Amino acid sequence: MVEYPPLLLAAALLGLLLALLLLLRRWGWGLCVVYWYELVLQPARNLLMGDTKEQRILNHVLEHAERGNPQSVLEAIDTYCSQKEWAMNVGDKKGQIVDTVVREYQPSVLLELGAYCGYSAVRMARLLLPDARLLTIELNPDYAAITQRMVDFAGLQDRVTVVVGASQDIIPQLKKKYDVDTLDMVFLDHWKDRYLPDTILLEECGLLRKGTVLLADNVICPGAPDFLVHVRESSHYECTHYSSYLEYMEVVDGLEKAIYMGPGSPTRP
Ligand SMILES: C[S@@+](CC[C@H](N)C(=O)[O-])C[C@H]1O[C@@H](n2cnc3c(N)ncnc32)[C@H](O)[C@@H]1O
Repeated sequence: MVEYPPLLLAAALLGLLLALLLLLRRWGWGLCVVYWYELVLQPARNLLMGDTKEQRILNHVLEHAERGNPQSVLEAIDTYCSQKEWAMNVGDKKGQIVDTVVREYQPSVLLELGAYCGYSAVRMARLLLPDARLLTIELNPDYAAITQRMVDFAGLQDRVTVVVGASQDIIPQLKKKYDVDTLDMVFLDHWKDRYLPDTILLEECGLLRKGTVLLADNVICPGAPDFLVHVRESSHYECTHYSSYLEYMEVVDGLEKAIYMGPGSPTRP
């Protein structure tokens, strides 16, 4: 057996401790717990149980919610994710802000970037008027399949189209392939480094009209600083920040609402 000099062991331990302190400082305790759970505990649990967290969330809904009742689907997901396994749904606290915005603007054509298990799709679609539709784009085919089952179970399949693919590939196809003229609202909730390039893509593809509402989740935690600079410093957008908490955690987060004012207005100095 190799014997390590005590000094080397002490240096390694000190290094580990320093790395931990740095992560704690950067992310805070709450986020460190989330990453520890997501990167270590959850894969171990998946391996042991032979399924995935997303399947377990769906199974919980199928067992505890009422078919055709979207509210019961949301409550089942929130209960599971606050008591059993944390998951990256927008959650109930920020969800109530999303509800307020959807109720206020009553979008006829709503686009979501990042569906995950379909929580926010169910949340928003349940508030849409009968002829309105939600297109939700999800990169991961397994998550997209879970979203489809969640939407079907909630009885919202006529209002929701789940599109599998990367936002940057699907957005340019929206006009021709998905019969979209312009969007009334966009909920951005995919990977945070895509918020800015996809907003620019939406602008370039002519999908935004005067009054289109962009609502972006997680602009504080994990954060989307370049997106915030883009919308806040441009006179093409009117912005409002809604402070809240990260889903199922006591960690500060927030949503940004950016209303597109049209392409004509000059950029702010
Ligand atoms: C935070 S979760 C979405 C949560 C969901 N909106 C909710 O509140 O229930 C982010 C999702 O975005 C997806 N995603 C990440 N990058 C994407 C992209 N470029 N295009 C489409 N989906 C993407 C991920 O696979 C993940 O499922």
